[in-house]
Amino acid sequence: MNIVVLTGAGISAESGLGTFRDVDGLWTKYDLNDVATPEGFARNPELVQDFYNRRRANARRAKPNAAHEALARLEAADGVSLSLVTQNVDDLHEQAGSCNVIHMHGQLARALCGACAHRWDAGEMMAVSDPCPACGRPATRPDVVWFGEMPYHMDRIFALLLAADLFVSIGTSGSVYPAAGFVAEARCSGVETLELNLEPSENHHVFDGGRYGPASEVVPLWVADVLGGAG
Ligand code: OAD
Repeated sequence: MNIVVLTGAGISAESGLGTFRDVDGLWTKYDLNDVATPEGFARNPELVQDFYNRRRANARRAKPNAAHEALARLEAADGVSLSLVTQNVDDLHEQAGSCNVIHMHGQLARALCGACAHRWDAGEMMAVSDPCPACGRPATRPDVVWFGEMPYHMDRIFALLLAADLFVSIGTSGSVYPAAGFVAEARCSGVETLELNLEPSENHHVFDGGRYGPASEVVPLWVADVLGGAG
């Protein structure tokens, strides 16, 4: 079976990383226009670097939970081809043992040169004045996708969606495009669709089915069902 999974902040919530739009979410504490747009970075790069330095420090302390681990088991199983697309900038899928992770919104652990587009592994703390290892210019930014920028690997993701037997969305509110549109794209191509989330998301009605509860519970149960059926 060919499965495409999309994950969002909800899968990392029980690992202690905050979501964006829930009560106490990051966007209730910060204005996303200030910290997650190219315009915000141009206005106040120190504020933006500080925001991502804090998130990077939190992410480095976090450990994967049972949901990340279940997806790693699914990837390793015979008879299943799993493509794991994540909107998350943490590395909890990789820590859990997933190998083929597509980070469509970039990664906290990577740096990007705003001058020459060179990318490298980020240190714990990042500053705009850090010189690019390739061109030497001081234009360092986190290698994360901001609002108004094109997410990464879109052609590859749409090709994977069209070839899937099943599309599963886990822990995402379905409010940010293009990821929020993957379910409709999959359905138009006859792909079965399933939502796993704490509660029905904004576009739950587009899915063929849903299972609701904490990711650490619903994801392992779903994976066990798939592996039971596949075996
Ligand atoms: P959101 O904060 O928008 O949504 C998180 C979803 O996870 C909600 O639907 C919650 O109900 C659900 N959730 C919370 N706790 C959960 C748990 N324990 N188990 C399962 N589900 C749980 O986060 P995203 O959908 O990931 O982009 O946000 C999408 C994008 O918006 C992010 O990648 C980020 C953000 O702004 C950028 O910064 C570009």
